[in-house]
Amino acid sequence: MKKKIGLTVLVLLVAIQFIHPKKNISQEISASDITNVRTVPNDVLQILQTACYDCHSNNTVYPWYNTIQPVAWWMNKHINNGKRHLNFSEFGNYDTKKANHKLDEVIETLEKDEMPLFSYVIIHRDAKLSDAQKKLVIDWAKSAMK
Ligand code: HEC
Repeated sequence: MKKKIGLTVLVLLVAIQFIHPKKNISQEISASDITNVRTVPNDVLQILQTACYDCHSNNTVYPWYNTIQPVAWWMNKHINNGKRHLNFSEFGNYDTKKANHKLDEVIETLEKDEMPLFSYVIIHRDAKLSDAQKKLVIDWAKSAMK
């Protein structure tokens, strides 16, 4: 019995390697990209791209282990969930109230150390923000509100 279960799991594991979620990669910078609707200084943009864009934009830079299932599903879930809450590539589609609210949440999540997600930071060491980097993004988010 145990052997049969082990074999079934193995077969399933092999089978799911052939199923992959659609990748979050867009070729162009959309008209609604935050850089087209707000002033984003280069140093701030760089931090957002390094620490946030994998889950909060239309462009994820995928690591090699995304080729392994079920890792790809797990990542895809984070990306879709992250984008649903905040998408810097679609920021221009938010009305002013919503946009301000999102910027407010950016400040809050940074102050509370809720973002980037812990599981992400332990792998992407460069996404762990210093106090100075956090302050830079927080000050920018305040100034970017309308
Ligand atoms: C690994 C993926 C990932 C990364 C990287 C990431 N986030 Fe998130 N973020 C999420 C997910 C998933 C959610 C949805 C809420 C949750 O599950 O906690 C979210 C939610 C948010 C929200 C909305 C919170 C709310 O209450 O709705 C904000 C604001 C946010 N993230 C900001 C950031 C910022 C700023 C960065 C970079 C410094 C960042 N995130 C990096 C995955 C990520």
